[in-house]
Amino acid sequence: MLYMGCLRGGSTSAVRLMPPTRRALLGGAGTALLGGAASTLCGPGARARPAAKPAGFGPVGPPAWTSDSLQAAAARTGLTYGCEVPHYRLDMAAYRRAVARECGMLVCGTAMKMEVVLAQPGIEDFGPGDATLRFARANGQRMRGHTLVWHNALPDWVQPLLARSGPAQAEAFLRRWIGAAAGHWRGTIEAWDVVNEVLAIGDAVQRPDGLRETPWLASLGPGYIDLAFRILHEVDPGAAGTWNEDAVEQDVPWMEARRTRVLRRLEGMLARGVPIRRFGLQSHLTSTLPIDQERLRRFLAEIGGLGLGIEITELDFDDRAFPSDIAARDRGVTDMARRYLDVVCAEKAVLNVVTWDIYDPDTWLNDHPNRKRPDGLPQRALPLDAGFARKPLWHAFHKAFRDAPDHGAHRDRLRRG
Ligand code: XIL
Repeated sequence: MLYMGCLRGGSTSAVRLMPPTRRALLGGAGTALLGGAASTLCGPGARARPAAKPAGFGPVGPPAWTSDSLQAAAARTGLTYGCEVPHYRLDMAAYRRAVARECGMLVCGTAMKMEVVLAQPGIEDFGPGDATLRFARANGQRMRGHTLVWHNALPDWVQPLLARSGPAQAEAFLRRWIGAAAGHWRGTIEAWDVVNEVLAIGDAVQRPDGLRETPWLASLGPGYIDLAFRILHEVDPGAAGTWNEDAVEQDVPWMEARRTRVLRRLEGMLARGVPIRRFGLQSHLTSTLPIDQERLRRFLAEIGGLGLGIEITELDFDDRAFPSDIAARDRGVTDMARRYLDVVCAEKAVLNVVTWDIYDPDTWLNDHPNRKRPDGLPQRALPLDAGFARKPLWHAFHKAFRDAPDHGAHRDRLRRG
C-alpha cells in the first residue's frame, strides 16, 4: 500500500473508498511518495497502523427534522438549513435532539480539519468526523466538509515541514492530504471548503493580488488555490469545491475591496477552467458594522451570475454593540438577521444557510479576544438558548425562510452541478 507508514494509516475503509484516479493523482507518484518527498513530509514519527475495520458510514436514514423546524421552512424554497457541530456535543442527548430536529445539514467544527485528522505524523484519525457523519446520515442530513486548505488548524509538525519544502514536496503533501481526507469521506460530502480565508485582511494586505501570507502560499506560490480545487475534483468529483471566505458581507470600504477581489479572482479561476462550484460567505456578522442590503444583493447576484452556487457557511451574530439587556440585544440581533437573511434567501444561487453551532453556550465568539463582549456577558449569537429553547433569533430565521421566494428548481440544478 502506497500510504503505509505515511499519511494513510491503513484503514481498509479508506482504501475501499479510494477513487480509481488515486494512483495517477498520487503522482505516478507512488515511488516518489515513498522516496524523498514522502519521507521528508511524513516526519520522523511515521509508522504503519494495522488495518482497521471499514468505518461503515451507514445508510442515509429518513429525515429527522420536524415539520415546524428551520430545515422544514428552508426546504420549501429549495434552501437547506444546517449548523456546525463540535463532535463532542454528540454525547449530549438534548443537543442531539435539537440538531436532529432543526437541521438538514451538518458541518464539523474541527473534526475534519488537519489538526484533528493528522494530529500526529503518520497517523490518521478519522474517528470524530466519522461519528458526526454517521449521526448526520442516520438523521437524513447532508454534510459539508470543512476545511482542506487553511493557514490555521495545521498540526504543529506540518508548518515546519512546509517551511522547509520546495514546491514539489509541498505539492506532494497537499495531494496526499486531500487524497486522505476527501478520499476517506468520498461520496458523502455535498461540498468541501477547499480553501478557507485566503484573502488578507486590513493592514495585512501586502501583495497586489491581495492573498494572505500563509505556509501554503510560501511553499507553493499563488497557484496553490487552483491546485487544491483540481486535486479535490480528482479525488471526489461529486463534492462541490467551495472557496470559503470571511469578511465580505458588511458595509465598510475594506470589505467592499475584498468583494471586488473575490469577484475578479472567481472570474480568473473560471477562465482558467478551475473546478470551483461554489463560493462560501462565512458570515460572522458583527453588530459594530452596518449591512447595506443593496451592495450585498449585488455581490450575491454577481457570484450567481458567474454560474456558481453560494453558501452561507458559518453564520452567527456578534452582539457586542448592543446593550446588556437581553431583550434589547435580541432585538438588535434579530434586526440584523432579518436584514441579512431577506437578501440572502431571495438570491436563487444561495443553496445552504449554515450557522456556526446552534445554541448560544457553544459560540466561539465568547472565546475570541476581539469578539467577546466588553461587559463579559455571553453572546446571544445563535438560534437556540442554553436550554435549547427557540429564541427570537430562531423566529427571525424561520420567518425569513418562510417568506422567501421559491427557487427550488434553480437550486436543485445548481446542487447537481
Ligand atoms: C473555530 C471553531 O469553532 C473552534 O472550535 C476552533 O477552536 C477554532 O476554529 N472561521 C472558521 C472556522 O473557518 O473553522 C472557525 O472555527 C471559526 C472561524
